[in-house]
Amino acid sequence: MRVLVTGGAGFIGSNFVLRAREVRPDWQLTVIDSMTYAANRASLEPALSTREVTLVEGNVADAQLVDELVAANDVVVHFAAESHNDNSLDSPWPFVESNVVGTFQLLEAVRRHDRRLHHISTDEVYGDLELDDPERFTERTPVNPSSPYSATKAGADLLVRAWIRSFGIRATLSNCSNNYGPRQHVEKFIPRQITGILEGTRPKLYGSGRNVRDWIHVDDHNDAVIAILEQGRLGETYLIGADGERNNRDIVTMLLELMGRPTDWFDHVNDRPGHDLRYAIDASKLRRETDWRPRYQDLRDGLAQTIDWYRANESWWTDAKVAAERTYARLGR
Ligand code: DAU
Repeated sequence: MRVLVTGGAGFIGSNFVLRAREVRPDWQLTVIDSMTYAANRASLEPALSTREVTLVEGNVADAQLVDELVAANDVVVHFAAESHNDNSLDSPWPFVESNVVGTFQLLEAVRRHDRRLHHISTDEVYGDLELDDPERFTERTPVNPSSPYSATKAGADLLVRAWIRSFGIRATLSNCSNNYGPRQHVEKFIPRQITGILEGTRPKLYGSGRNVRDWIHVDDHNDAVIAILEQGRLGETYLIGADGERNNRDIVTMLLELMGRPTDWFDHVNDRPGHDLRYAIDASKLRRETDWRPRYQDLRDGLAQTIDWYRANESWWTDAKVAAERTYARLGR
């Protein structure tokens, strides 16, 4: 099977490529990635040096390039997206271009060439929950995005659903909770704190630190994507989550303990405008309809493995760290 992976040099996409290469060695993988600040060629080594994977530099909003690549493959897995909320609050246009226009171009190519598509999305399209809300997000929760980022992802999801219903394209969608693991850009919460602690700076908690995220290891997310590709029903949406709810303060405490620092060694900084309070996923449908089960059951073990990866791969992140912290300094966070 020939598989086109959009955004395959970013965090989740590159981990997908490496995981697929391991568990589905017969797949032929081609990556299209615009190689923005969030992508890293080194994430795809050694698959590139052995030529097991082809990397094409380009934007999913480039209609002609996307048409050629979609035509040359059997399946498209669409990870490409601008994904960082703080950046979307600072500069929304790249989010509209990549997430909405890019998805539109891809859908049109998939329609023309009758290819199978899996669209990757986020739980953030559902807005947020109260801390004590007994309900979690399900596939039936109405979309209610808060930030320019989540609004563009919700827009892309709605386009995919319309192309399924109106044009009969063969597609599935998934909305996943917060991912962590190796190769995540250092602008994001967990790697920002890990790399900061490694450099001797205190973790930075937005606002009170009570905000809750539902953490899942990136390999568990990607295994779920493979399960949906192989066992999911066409036209359906699946929520992906691994029952990993923790508030941000608890995550910082765990990182400090694992890295040998006192648990009060952190600072509160300005809150994010419109900061979503809590995300939580009910993944019953995915568990019912596929044989997927998360392998990382213990968040502390997953974080310890992630810390080891950042410790061992300093050259992967040092340049990005300088640039990310320059942006945060400008934003006062
Ligand atoms: O829920 C899935 C989403 O998770 C994905 O769709 C997004 O692409 C991904 O960025 C992530 O969104 P969040 O906004 O939840 O992730 P982020 O890593 O930016 O922040 C996680 C939480 O940590 C959030 O409550 C904000 C807080 N935070 C973040 C940073 C960078 C801090 O307290 N301090 C920080 O330095």
